[in-house]
Amino acid sequence: MRVVFLAPTFPPEMIQYTRGLAEVGAKVYGIADTPREALPRELKPYLHDYLQVPRIMDEDDVIARATGWLRGVPVDRVLANWEPLVILAARIRERWGMPGMSADVVRGFRDKQLMKERVRAAGLRVPKSRRCTSERQIREAADEIGYPLVVKPIAGAGSADTYRVGEARELERVLGLVRHVAEVSCEEYVTGEEFTFDTVCIGGKPAYENIAAYLPKPLEARSNEWISPVIITVRDMAQPRLRPGIELGRRVLTALGMGDGFTHMEWFLTPKGEAVFGEIGCRPGGAHLVDQMNYTGDIDLFREWARVATWRSFEASTERKYNVGIVFKRAFGQGRISRIEGLGSWLREAGDWCVEERLFRPGTRRRNWKSTLLSDGHVIVRHPDWDEAHRLSFRAATGIRLFAG
Ligand SMILES: Nc1ncnc2c1ncn2[C@@H]1O[C@H](COP(=O)(O)OP(=O)(O)OP(=O)(O)O)[C@@H](O)[C@H]1O
Ligand SMILES: [Mg+2]
Repeated sequence: MRVVFLAPTFPPEMIQYTRGLAEVGAKVYGIADTPREALPRELKPYLHDYLQVPRIMDEDDVIARATGWLRGVPVDRVLANWEPLVILAARIRERWGMPGMSADVVRGFRDKQLMKERVRAAGLRVPKSRRCTSERQIREAADEIGYPLVVKPIAGAGSADTYRVGEARELERVLGLVRHVAEVSCEEYVTGEEFTFDTVCIGGKPAYENIAAYLPKPLEARSNEWISPVIITVRDMAQPRLRPGIELGRRVLTALGMGDGFTHMEWFLTPKGEAVFGEIGCRPGGAHLVDQMNYTGDIDLFREWARVATWRSFEASTERKYNVGIVFKRAFGQGRISRIEGLGSWLREAGDWCVEERLFRPGTRRRNWKSTLLSDGHVIVRHPDWDEAHRLSFRAATGIRLFAG
């Protein structure tokens, strides 16, 4: 089994997927723009061979170089788990006549307007939305959709350039803020709680499913620096209020023609109990969500994904043992971390339920909290009871404080 894996070096968890591929017996041919001599030491044992390209985002160039590099090598799979590269992987598959999702199918997971059109065409509940490429179109869409509404990039990530517009007079300000975005989606603002629906699929059918709760919703977490965003995987997925979300998720996978691999969907649960589609990618969630899923069932989805992507088989347990909360911290002040308060007492309280503590230490330069949810580090805590997992997570959110400057 020969597998081409795009960008085994970035983001850092791609090293884990590369490990997974090697562990299930694949020969991994990595392609990235990292210089060969700068490849992480822990990655090297899992790579069979490596091609450094000048620009990994230059699709035509990567296709040409990869084709030349692997001429005569019988490749079985071309895979990518990082959102910006899923179309490139599909284009290479098409060029080489290989199994896997076509570029058109993958576009349905990448283009937010196309995805909503396809999901809506399947009769599923999707926010009203319009694709807009000019201010005039945004104004027209706003008149048609009404307020509150959301303006966000068609090819967005990390809630960047995403704005809630409460009323008509706020629109002018937001128009200025999104002027640099070529294509935006203008859509109905959906009120309610927000969740993920994550899967590892074989032929579009989930072999593994997960739900995690965003506390608060990502748009709020990204608009207020003082918030410590909390995300908790839900142990009890059989609870009735989540059923509409799971049904929606499964039907979205069918509507979009999902094949093999990870999916990461976001959906809203309205106060009336209705599930509304948010967005979906045909790749795993980032920001340690896969680690959280692994802690939820004591399994290794990096390897299980690899088994699915190569041999189309999933062997891990799907039993859910814990609710797993991750808490991202953001320091007060600028520059380097100077001190941490409340960590010792929180660790004593959490005891063995704390499974990871990776807060930035004094001296470390702060990350840009707007550009990455990872912020200034995190703790992960788990518990079989939802209330206790929730309580310990929020004790970390409010009780641990980092200072910088
Ligand atoms: N129609 C909507 N109604 C209510 N909230 C919305 C809507 N669209 C987006 N949001 C909010 O904005 C956030 C970011 O939007 P979306 O998920 O579409 O973009 P993204 O940049 O790809 O997100 P990320 O990479 O953070 O998952 C959502 O998680 C949600 O909190
Ligand atoms: Mg999103």
